Parts: sequence; C-alpha cells; structure tokens
Amino acid sequence: MYRQQILDHYRNPRNYGELSDATFSHTGENPSCGDEITVDVVLNENEAIERIAFSGDGCAISQAAASMLTSELTGMTLNELQELDRDDVLDLLGVEVTPMRIKCAVLAEKVAQDGAKIYHGELDELEQTTIEG
Ligand code: FES
Repeated sequence: MYRQQILDHYRNPRNYGELSDATFSHTGENPSCGDEITVDVVLNENEAIERIAFSGDGCAISQAAASMLTSELTGMTLNELQELDRDDVLDLLGVEVTPMRIKCAVLAEKVAQDGAKIYHGELDELEQTTIEG
C-alpha cells in the first residue's frame, strides 16, 4: 500500500512546477547520481509557507519524497521547517529506504532547508547543497 502511494506521488507529483513570485528559490544536487531539485517558496507576512513548488528530475523515491514533503510544508513556518530531520521524510515515505537511497529521500528537504538558511543569511548563497552520506 505504501509502495502504491510512492508510485502515485511519483506519477502525479503534487506541487510540481515553478513559482514566478517566489520569495526564495534554491537548487541542490544528489551527488551520488547528479539529479537536481529546485524548490520555490512563497512566504506570508508571518514567515509561514504560503505556497511551495518543486521541479527537477530524479528517481521515484526523490520525486515522491518531494511531492509528499511539499504537501506537508504548506502552512509551516521556516523555523518549523528547520526542525525537520531525515526521519520525518522517511516516516512520510513509509518504506524501508536503503542507505544509498536516503540521499534521494532527503534531497527536497535539504534543498528547502538550505534555501531558508540562505534567505535568513545563515548560509552563503554560493554554497552548493549536497547531501551527506
Ligand atoms: Fe538520483 Fe535518486 S537516483 S535522486
């Protein structure tokens, strides 16, 4: 059933696309395969995520995780976003993920978190997002 849900999000990704009025955008790469995801975020006046979209290519796990995660992030503040960890994404996916595929699973989360850090001036904009092992 969970596998079915992953395939559904992969084939019909939620929040896929670009936001031309984004408050911030960030792109990051999974270094083990070269796949990239871009996350666009529109914030409201309370620094909560009003709209979020992702674009880019990747495997079923990375695309499903991005689709599920962006659905969860709508309405969340940037501080709440920073409190998420890889287990939150793995819980959303609901399947065992091999160590190699964990980088796929957390790609969108890391890109969104790094984008928020750059927006807050906590990270150099030129610093490339990469996923640690
Ligand atoms: Fe590239 Fe999963 S194989 S993101």
